[in-house]
Amino acid sequence: MTTEMNLKVTNSVNFYSGNNPRELVEKFSSPLYVYNENIFRTKCREMKNLCSYPNFHVNYAIKANTNLTLLSIAKEEGLFADISSVGEIYAATSAGFMPNEMLFIVNNVTLAELKHAIDLDITVSVDSLSQLESYGKINEGGKVCLRFNPGIGGGHHPKVITGGDDTKFGIMPEYIIEVKKLLARYNLKLVGINHHIGSQNWGDLYLEGAKGLLNVAREFEDLEFIDFGGGFAIPYNKQNDEKPLDLKMLGSSLDKIMYDYVKEVGKEIKFFIEPGRYISAECGVLLGTVTTTKTCGAANYNGTDMGFSVFARPTLYDSHHDIEIYRIENKEIDFSNIKITNIVGNQCESGDYIAKERKMPELIEGDILGILDAGAYGYSMSSNYNHRPRPAEILIRHDGSIKLIRKRDTFKDMISNMLSI
Ligand code: LLP
Repeated sequence: MTTEMNLKVTNSVNFYSGNNPRELVEKFSSPLYVYNENIFRTKCREMKNLCSYPNFHVNYAIKANTNLTLLSIAKEEGLFADISSVGEIYAATSAGFMPNEMLFIVNNVTLAELKHAIDLDITVSVDSLSQLESYGKINEGGKVCLRFNPGIGGGHHPKVITGGDDTKFGIMPEYIIEVKKLLARYNLKLVGINHHIGSQNWGDLYLEGAKGLLNVAREFEDLEFIDFGGGFAIPYNKQNDEKPLDLKMLGSSLDKIMYDYVKEVGKEIKFFIEPGRYISAECGVLLGTVTTTKTCGAANYNGTDMGFSVFARPTLYDSHHDIEIYRIENKEIDFSNIKITNIVGNQCESGDYIAKERKMPELIEGDILGILDAGAYGYSMSSNYNHRPRPAEILIRHDGSIKLIRKRDTFKDMISNMLSI
């Protein structure tokens, strides 16, 4: 790995836009989530322009990154919101999304949560016969969407595969007769159907899934929309030249599927996609500090302030994230001496790591590390475990200026909801 290789990903997209990551950490503290506005907007536009089909919409899966500033930019870019909880309804509303710009895709929610969405006139997608029945009882004569599982699933880890035989999500097509009975019993209008096959898929499987969902759609007349779900892959191995998704191929194949379908059924219909990671992953870098270097047995460890309370993906899914090193100018990084090392966090658990057995030049205390592609499922999955404050988030604006978009938790924040007896 040469010096250029070390910085090639962020340099290639002008990620820091003239800012120095070390100075950002000095100013806003470590660890720190840094987002780039231009990249976020580019990704929103890539998704919006994916297809030429006129009634094609992008629902940003806001669970990937729910920062209100990013949400309001997504709204400004003309995206709608894929919502998974009442808390997300609140966040999306705060960022300016209207009820008719949200689809609430529920999984095992309470009646109170369903009622909340119905009262706000937000379309709800339920994903079991039992929830369809509960929904019918509280919204007789209303509209509803249904999440199906036509049997196709895939993803970067078994924990994120949400279609196929081994998942709690969706209604299997074999229950369509029961679905129709429940729709009739409660006089519900089925306005749309959706599915989501899983996360980090490269196109072919997504297209196969879309065709599977259309087989379900053929069973229902009067659908207003069909939602193919999210899950588009991003290249997490850019330091090894992993290529991005072929948007041209994906867009034209999806177009063909949509145009063929409306021709077949002889009427216009809306189509949605729900990318989360594709929109926000690459706009984010997590900066943290090397606090310790040590050897334990045969293994080499570099301790950092980025425990899994700050960034959970490697611990949860063994996810790979490229890493850049930002060292103070007068200390050279020896790229001729590459070692296998473990980059770990500060949490009291052995599973707490950022990178396992990674080839890296020797790190020293005080190095700032940039964990790349951390804009999706980074902050949104962070916690206060070990009673550590969640980090601040900053945005590099289109003109290179910096805006603090979330303050770091304070110790007071972390105890503020606790009551004494
Ligand atoms: N639509 C539905 C119904 C979903 O459940 C999800 C993600 C998405 C869309 C967006 O998926 P995406 O395009 O971001 O892959 N924490 C995991 C990912 C969990 C995704 C859960 N559902 C990770 O860090 O990889």
